[in-house]
This record gives sequence, structure tokens and C-alpha cells, in this order.
Amino acid sequence: MKSKLLIALSKGRLLQQELDLLERIKIMPRKDPIKSRKLVFETNRADISILVLRGSDVVTYVRHGTADIGMVGKDILIEQKGDGFYEPLDLGIGKCRLMVAGPENESAYAGRLKIATKFTNTAKRYYAMKGQQVEIIKLFGAMELAPVMGLAHRIVDIVETGETLRANGLVPIEEIIKISTKLIVNESSYKTKFDDIKNLINEIGSSL
Ligand code: PRP
Repeated sequence: MKSKLLIALSKGRLLQQELDLLERIKIMPRKDPIKSRKLVFETNRADISILVLRGSDVVTYVRHGTADIGMVGKDILIEQKGDGFYEPLDLGIGKCRLMVAGPENESAYAGRLKIATKFTNTAKRYYAMKGQQVEIIKLFGAMELAPVMGLAHRIVDIVETGETLRANGLVPIEEIIKISTKLIVNESSYKTKFDDIKNLINEIGSSL
């Protein structure tokens, strides 16, 4: 008998691509998660259900084994440094870069460089690795505004097309890491539901 599998998808700009990926291997939710306000979806496969969550919550659900499988950006995985799950596949979607960016004409600053970001752990590790002492300022969104308003000198943020930077008079300065969406699998689900999860990984892997 097939095990029940719960797959957690990241909502937002990744969701359509994640659904397309599942559709390629003939897994289709019964209602459209893009249009519906529901958060859990049955699919055409009686053994597979889908959750739609914030990326950071995808990691939490999979780490605790509540969801067996997740799709989540590498930016979130390195920020949370999770354990309790494997990362067997790069899904090749959601490609972007985590970058340091700042004003085109950066004015001189006295004292420590101030960095605004929601990726505070990653930014701390990055500057520690460079041996540079900086002040990290936590924001939850609209990072690009921080240098414009004088809250920080630079930002650490995701850059995909570069449009948001350009629209706010900022330029990319340094690349921290290339990002894409990963498939993650809870460690104990991988053991207890091995055949079904392995089949799913193989099917997704060969559809990429
Ligand atoms: C991300 C990021 C930038 C933007 C970059 O935000 O924080 O603002 O995308 O993309 P671009 O280089 O193509 O302009 P997102 O829209 O994902 O929302 P968020 O702020 O909630 O992360």
C-alpha cells in the first residue's frame, strides 16, 4: 500500500513554478492554490496532499516531519541552517542571487558599515568570513528603502532581474551566493516511506 505523502510548497512567486513541476509528473491539486484561500489541498492522487506555506514555515513543517517533503529557496535554508531533513534535489526554479547592494553613488561613512536585511544570520556569517565588523539591522521587507532613507548604508537581499534595485537607485556590489529552489525531505519520512519518496524524487528529478 502506498504511504500518504504531504508536500509543503512555498507560496509567493515560486508557487506557480512548483505547481507546474508537480503537474509535469501528473500530480494536480483538486482546487487551484493560486486562486483559493485554502492552505491544504487534496490532489488527483489519493496518497498525496499539498500544503501552501511561507518558505520559512515549509522548513519548520518538514523538520518536524509534519510534512514529508518541501520545496523551498536556498536563501531560506542557509538563513535557518536547518537539520532533520535531506536536500536531495535542486529543482532549477527560483534562480536568483543573494547580494550586497548599495547606492550608486555611495557616500563616505564614518564608523561601522550598517547593513539592513531580513537575512541576518547569513549576513553575519558573510561579514565574519570577510573579517569585517558591521552593524546588522533586521528588516522584514522593502530592504531597498533602507539606504534611500538613510537607515543603513547597504542591504543584503535577493536579486533576480535587478529591477527593484534599479528602481531605487541601488546597484549590486557583491554576490554572496547563487540561490535556487531545493527539494527537502524529512529524515525519518525518508526511512519509513522510502519507496514512495524515492519514486517521487526520481520522477521529479527526471522531469527537470
Ligand atoms: C524579492 C527581493 C527584492 C525583489 C528582487 O522580493 O526582496 O525586493 O524580489 O527581485 P528583482 O531583482 O527581480 O527586482 P519579493 O518580491 O520576493 O518579496 P519579499 O520582499 O516578500 O521577499
